[in-house]
Amino acid sequence: MPNMAYINGRFMLLSQAKVSVEDRGFQFGDGVYELIRTYNGRLFQAEAHLERLLRSAMAIGLDGVYSQSRWMAILREIYKGSGFREAKLYIQLTRGVAPREHAFPLKSRPTVVVTARQLIPLPFALRRRGATVITVPDIRWGRCDIKSINLLPNIMARQKAKVQGAYEAIFIRDGLVTEGSSSNVFAVIKGWVVTPLKGPMILPGITREWVLQLAKEAGLRTAEKEIALQKLLAAEEVFLTGTTAEVLPVVKVDGRPIGNGKPGEATRLLYRRFQAHTGG
Ligand code: PDD
Repeated sequence: MPNMAYINGRFMLLSQAKVSVEDRGFQFGDGVYELIRTYNGRLFQAEAHLERLLRSAMAIGLDGVYSQSRWMAILREIYKGSGFREAKLYIQLTRGVAPREHAFPLKSRPTVVVTARQLIPLPFALRRRGATVITVPDIRWGRCDIKSINLLPNIMARQKAKVQGAYEAIFIRDGLVTEGSSSNVFAVIKGWVVTPLKGPMILPGITREWVLQLAKEAGLRTAEKEIALQKLLAAEEVFLTGTTAEVLPVVKVDGRPIGNGKPGEATRLLYRRFQAHTGG
């Protein structure tokens, strides 16, 4: 089964897909992206991802290129063409090809790239045992709500975690938790399920929103408010959310066990509810 690509109107094998070296995405990281996955052959929350793509694009002065229905048609076709049972669909929208100058041409043609690859779920052992994470200073820019393809601070942080044998790095800004390098952060504090407020310093995760709703439906008390690093370390439970992480328990932060060092009860309940909805 082949990995597939779509570039500006044409479907092809991923191995044959090419963009110009003068693409502003390559030159400057001048673009935005989304990652969407399937569950049981259905795109999960694709409309919400496409709405966020449009918001990201507009925030950097790009338009969304296609209508929602055209985007959906492309996503469905590339998924079908790949033949994978479960796939991850990556959309990258850049400002297109232009001679390298910082200021951008007002009338460039955006480059649209969509790829479909097989989705490999996280190892079951990681889910069962729970993840370890480290914290790192949040050195990112002031618009982390834009899903920009500029991910240097994120990849540096994630690499640091990997080298230390941890799954994720959690960013800390002014003593407060913002988010993970590719996930949102939740903590259970005095029985409340808490996650940092939406704003320019975090990506408004699609999974974050969904899990907040699941928590409310389950009768858990939820709050969107700041989490100080000290509160995170002393939390009863910590977990990550994201398209890949889903609901992933965290059992150690910076080498210190969270709660009893095992995945917590609320986390497990939310993961079960998440699975019930996705059929995952
Ligand atoms: N990342 N925060 C950051 C910085 C992210 O990159 C992501 C997702 C999330 C979670 O968002 P969502 O629930 O919408 O997936 C939060 C994707 C998976 C990635 O970069 O591959």
